[in-house]
Amino acid sequence: MISNYKNSNEIKTVGVIGAGTMGTGIAQVVSQAGLSVILFDLNSHLLKGAKSQVSLTMEKLISKGKVSAVKAQGTCQRITYVTNIEAMAAADLVVEAIVEQLDIKQQVFQQLESICSPQALLVSNTSAISITAIGSAMRDPRRLAGLHFFNPAPVMKLVEVVKGLATDANVVVTLLNLAKSWGKVAVAAKSSPGFIVNRIARPFYAEGLRLVEEGVAEPTRIDALMREAGGFRMGPFELMDLIGHDVNYTVTKSVFEANYFDPRFKPSLLQAELVNAGWMGRKSGRGFYTYDNGKVIKEKVEWDNIRFGGFFNISRIVESVLIKPLIDRMLSAGVTLHSKTTAQVGEIVFANGARLVVTDGRTTLDRALQEDNPYIIQMDLSNDYGTCTALALSTHPDIPEEVWIEVYSFFDFLGIKTCVVKDMPGLVVYRTVAMLINEAADTLHLSIADQQGIDCAMKYGVNYPKGLLAWADELGTSQVARVLENLYFFYHDDRYRLSPALIQRSQLGSTFHARH
Ligand code: NAI
Repeated sequence: MISNYKNSNEIKTVGVIGAGTMGTGIAQVVSQAGLSVILFDLNSHLLKGAKSQVSLTMEKLISKGKVSAVKAQGTCQRITYVTNIEAMAAADLVVEAIVEQLDIKQQVFQQLESICSPQALLVSNTSAISITAIGSAMRDPRRLAGLHFFNPAPVMKLVEVVKGLATDANVVVTLLNLAKSWGKVAVAAKSSPGFIVNRIARPFYAEGLRLVEEGVAEPTRIDALMREAGGFRMGPFELMDLIGHDVNYTVTKSVFEANYFDPRFKPSLLQAELVNAGWMGRKSGRGFYTYDNGKVIKEKVEWDNIRFGGFFNISRIVESVLIKPLIDRMLSAGVTLHSKTTAQVGEIVFANGARLVVTDGRTTLDRALQEDNPYIIQMDLSNDYGTCTALALSTHPDIPEEVWIEVYSFFDFLGIKTCVVKDMPGLVVYRTVAMLINEAADTLHLSIADQQGIDCAMKYGVNYPKGLLAWADELGTSQVARVLENLYFFYHDDRYRLSPALIQRSQLGSTFHARH
């Protein structure tokens, strides 16, 4: 189909509106890709700052051997800094990165329509405003799309290409190709609150906050577990402190409101209190952690290190796909087994009767009562039991010490730090990951993006260790659905209701990604 608008080969000059954090980063990305950039801001001071920021970054990259001096010089020279918006007449594509306010963005796009060629593409870097709403003020909203970069734009690989109701399909294709040619991972998303990443990531923060509110564990422990068991680069509390609680809370609130107060997106009163106190995180010197000149002062994580000579005696193993890496780790550490079988749900049974299982979303008390066995110990999810260095456990309150002590010794022997958390459903990592998977499934269900796009978005936009839908496939969609059903059953809170996309896959026993 012939497009009315410029295609990716015809885009040689890119205009950027707003020389703040994002605009400056975007200008650098585009210039590094060899295109000419015109960076506009009303404030000439900020333009000066942007110019020195780009040269400073280039100098750093030269000193690290990441770019040659010639290339760095080219990047700096290809950016022109202007305080006159009429300069955008020369642009084939204009990226807007100004304040997050609908009426101001609408005014800028109206202005751009009267300055730029009718074939030029116009895009917004908005993180939360509807592209359709911005386009409603334009004469030709077909050429408007979202081009959502992540902070810092030169580092983060992901770009979401957002299609508003009126956006021309060709414009989306052009932008996907263009962003890829700039070295980015580009995924298409439908204009909807939070697009892909800012929607799906909500439970990462929300479940962490709930866990603290419910007294399951402290922020330091939760962060350590999410890193060391879950494989996430940062835990929710250190990440919220870094993002800033004002920013994080505002995004959560806007996604909640835009979804007509769906309890799935409900903001946290605990975070609201931090904002009320002015404890915004790293930037204000205090959040969940305290900071001294930007350096975090963290208390040491308290693990339940119990060393009883490392004695433990395993009587039986039921191996499952999920715990196989743990069994392999055990065998290569020299533990011998008397009996081993395989089933969908795995367990390690100790000679004293302790049964170690992965959480299924019931509390350990519930599970022990239903299975009529008080010796159950539930362990949390790990993204890799073969290499993880920490795990959360939960026990029945009446389990005798001499029984669970062997389970501690077992983990100690394998070099896995453990902590017993308050007995609430889903422990720490599984509860969070199940909720993230549920949101990813719903994003698919609502046709906001496709499987591939959803998984790439979370891996490259927020550095998750795995794509969430691929993670669901690995865990088994029915197992994930079970954990969520049990959470829902326990809390009777709509927040934990299952996405229809997950229900159907679990009923069919099928996966999100076709297996080859
Ligand atoms: P910022 O506050 O650092 O920069 C905004 C810039 O726009 C300032 O330099 C300001 O002088 C300029 N500006 C404001 N009104 C203007 C106008 N009418 N014409 C020209 N320039 C104008 O903001 P930041 O953080 O760079 O955000 C920009 C946009 O990018 C927002 O829509 C934000 O939601 C989005 N975004 C921000 C991310 C972040 O982590 N900071 C991540 C992804 C998107």
